[in-house]
Amino acid sequence: MVKAVNFIRHLRQPAAPTKAGQLRQLLYAPELSFLMEAHNALSAKLVEEAGFGGIWASGLSMSAALGVRDSNEASWTQILEVLEFMSDATTGPILVDGDTGYGNFNNVRRLVKKLSQRDIAGVCLEDKLFPKTNSFIGEGQPLADIDEFCGKIKAGKDSQLDDQFCVIARVEALISGWGLEEALRRAEAYHDAGADAVLIHSKKKSPDEIFAFMREWGQRAPVVIVPTMYYTTPTQRFRDEKISTVIWANHGLRAAITAMRETYHEILEAESLMELEGRIASVRDIFDLAGNQELSQAEKRYLPQDADRPGAIVLAASRGAALGELTADQPKCMVDVRGRPLLHRLVSTLREGGIRDIAVVRGYQKDKIDLPSVATYDNDDYETTGELHSLARAADRLTGPSVITYGDILFRRYHLDNLLDTPGDIVVVADAYWQKRDVAREHRVSDLVQCSRPFTGDYLADEAPVHLEEIGDHLPPTHTHGEWVGLVKLSAAGAEMVKTALAAMADGAEGLGRKGMPDLMNHLIRQGHKPRVVYVTGHWLDVDDAFDLANARNFL
Ligand code: SPV
Ligand code: MG
Repeated sequence: MVKAVNFIRHLRQPAAPTKAGQLRQLLYAPELSFLMEAHNALSAKLVEEAGFGGIWASGLSMSAALGVRDSNEASWTQILEVLEFMSDATTGPILVDGDTGYGNFNNVRRLVKKLSQRDIAGVCLEDKLFPKTNSFIGEGQPLADIDEFCGKIKAGKDSQLDDQFCVIARVEALISGWGLEEALRRAEAYHDAGADAVLIHSKKKSPDEIFAFMREWGQRAPVVIVPTMYYTTPTQRFRDEKISTVIWANHGLRAAITAMRETYHEILEAESLMELEGRIASVRDIFDLAGNQELSQAEKRYLPQDADRPGAIVLAASRGAALGELTADQPKCMVDVRGRPLLHRLVSTLREGGIRDIAVVRGYQKDKIDLPSVATYDNDDYETTGELHSLARAADRLTGPSVITYGDILFRRYHLDNLLDTPGDIVVVADAYWQKRDVAREHRVSDLVQCSRPFTGDYLADEAPVHLEEIGDHLPPTHTHGEWVGLVKLSAAGAEMVKTALAAMADGAEGLGRKGMPDLMNHLIRQGHKPRVVYVTGHWLDVDDAFDLANARNFL
């Protein structure tokens, strides 16, 4: 019974208006409405993001963005393709500048049908001749025959697939110097032919002829204006004259031209991006506008999810102050190594190893970390905390098999493959050739490991697994069997162990403080766990300073 009542209520709910319905509401609303120009999907999204209720798909702007003139040089199907992207990228209504309809009534029929199919809300047709010329070019442009143009309007109305679709008749009589009377005569005829609204256009600097039209026209049908030339008119005057809709017809494109010109000149002269970076949209912003977040969610939903496939947590919160200027305005993990940031290379290696679900813990200059389809966590206390604090930020990821890696290392893919193939709840990678690195790096090797036995030199030897017994910089060479590479793999049970250890350490007297991954390993060992060791022999590096960075460039 309850279900039946809900069902009836549901039926009674008015359906959300279609895009065409939304445009109709804007045109017929008593208050002044605004349509803002867009010329491609990105600008259409930005118009919507700004809060405009509708979009003007400007013929001038779309043509210019395609690098051609506003003279029907772009074919109607080329324009249709742009419109399809714009419509797909937005949820609000798009009014299309249909120029003269790309031919006669028959072309208008096909145009309106195709626009309707792409969920375009309406089209504006102007009473000039094909191929059209922009209204602000030259004088006395020829006008269409009134009856012929009325036929186009009727044909358009008869072809719309949504009964809310709007056909707006654009009167060019004032532009062509034919005077107010002719403008009124044409507006009346087009309205009678079925136009849903009239666009009265003017290229004068003053709005006087538009207002004269309004006084004669009254409220016969909604009136749309394009105040590009009479832009100094206070908007309140448009309200006073009961205008329905104002189109800001080309200002997105014009703003973009100015911004691009300035940027291109600046980069050309500076031969650097340093001064510019903070003033332009970030790469992350582009990913957000493109909807990358949705794609990662969809990937989780639709791509085969291997329950045993580990996720990865990359610890990348530190600045890397030893790299000096190179990390003045970006974290160490974003330092360029032969044309790509270190972190991009690391993430590629993880992906090549089959790891899809990757999270990065950011800290210093966190906005500079800009990877698509990578989740981010923030350790905003990066200056006063250490790796375990960062790891704790992403602890909700430790729900299944996981790889934890430092964000400043590079290693050959087979190290990862070896790690993933080695069974165990906690498995670490250790470099048995640590002494070579120690000499090369002038005794600055850290995270030394003591294991249950040294590397035998034979990868294939069928011996008992090696276990980690202790890790730390204090180990004397006599007890050192390798250097931890900064990579650890956890099984689902291992991930639980790490979570429990993190919680216990956080609750301990010292808290997590500046503790690092080695502290976690030693804690786990003290708890009775036996991390397994995979020995490797070189073919990896970490980047701490300029010396390491030079090595990293050679490493590739
Ligand atoms: C356009 O934006 O393409 C227009 C308006 O048609 S105008 O340029 O003013 O003619
Ligand atoms: Mg136009």
